[in-house]
Amino acid sequence: MRSFTDRVSEIDSSGIRKMFEAAGNGSINLGIGEPDVPTPAHVCDAAMDAIREGYTRYTAGAGVPELRVALSEKFLHDNNISVSPDEIIVTSGASEALHISLQALVEPGDDVLIPDPGFVSYMALSRIAGGRVISVPLVDLCLDPDVVAEQITRNTKVLIVNSPSNPCGTVQSRKEIQAFAELAEDHDFTIISDEVYEFCIYEGEHVSPAEFTDNVVTVNAASKTYAMTGWRLGYLAARPEYIEQFHKVHQYVQACANSVAQMAVLAAITGPQDCVTEMRDRFKQRRDILLGGLREMDIECVTPAGAFYVFPRVGDGDRTAADLAERGVITVPGSAFGIYGAEHIRMSYATSEANIVRALDRMRGGF
Ligand SMILES: Cc1ncc(COP(=O)(O)O)c(C=O)c1O
Repeated sequence: MRSFTDRVSEIDSSGIRKMFEAAGNGSINLGIGEPDVPTPAHVCDAAMDAIREGYTRYTAGAGVPELRVALSEKFLHDNNISVSPDEIIVTSGASEALHISLQALVEPGDDVLIPDPGFVSYMALSRIAGGRVISVPLVDLCLDPDVVAEQITRNTKVLIVNSPSNPCGTVQSRKEIQAFAELAEDHDFTIISDEVYEFCIYEGEHVSPAEFTDNVVTVNAASKTYAMTGWRLGYLAARPEYIEQFHKVHQYVQACANSVAQMAVLAAITGPQDCVTEMRDRFKQRRDILLGGLREMDIECVTPAGAFYVFPRVGDGDRTAADLAERGVITVPGSAFGIYGAEHIRMSYATSEANIVRALDRMRGGF
């Protein structure tokens, strides 16, 4: 019998994938974690030009210099943070950025504080890095600085912050983000700030912890902002001492991010941004339809101010998701995102309004 490492074999495969596998023909899929629109045409054109112009080789390990310059300008313009191109690594999606950060920061036995419920990768990647996962229960679906503070020990190495949140859709306030930054300074740990939904905020503002502290790795991607999930292009920013170590992991697991995707994202970031605002406006309308329908059914639901998910409290999330799947509506049970998500389901509204309306019809009478 072949043996595999505990840190890998003990990980459960993603609960999201399991729901997709269970989906019958004709099901309406509200389990999706990606925009339903195509990548903007000018971005696709830039990729085709890049192929024809021969951008088909390894690039600089940290990424094409022009892209890192553009990202450095983006950080200043959108996030009010000043990072030089040398403080940026272009990665294969935000996923790789999370992975290389955790690999370089977490020693076996170190504590990684993660929001619970939180994005599925945080627990898995922390364990793969040998870390001890500490689930921080959310308060009203937000990470509360006082609850975080209670979990901090001498072993705390990393706190993962994700605003807007997957799966909750909630957006942390400026005051909360500043409080996390102060905790990181006072207790000398690193915040990994996953900002992949920053473009998708309907109420409130997006605030990066890097505005307040250098103890932070800012992770982002083109995946959601420009409807580019399949292109696998993300990036991170951090101070040079971090970059030096992260780069070693990146170099050996990835060499560099996809060359064509880098040129496409350069066009996305430096080109017109109306595609992003249009997508956000469309998502907001869909959110309101879904939220309105759920509230008519008296389902308890925090108003999500960002991302493209609602996370209603339904009692037994596993049972509800299974019942809904039988009625042809695919959702994700909240337990997929941590033990404190078990009373919820995640519903994505990154699908057409017609699908949302049909899904609500199928749900009526079942609650
Ligand atoms: C919060 C969050 N972070 C990171 C990722 C991974 O992003 P990427 O596709 O760029 O690897 C996702 C994808 O669903 C996500 O929801």
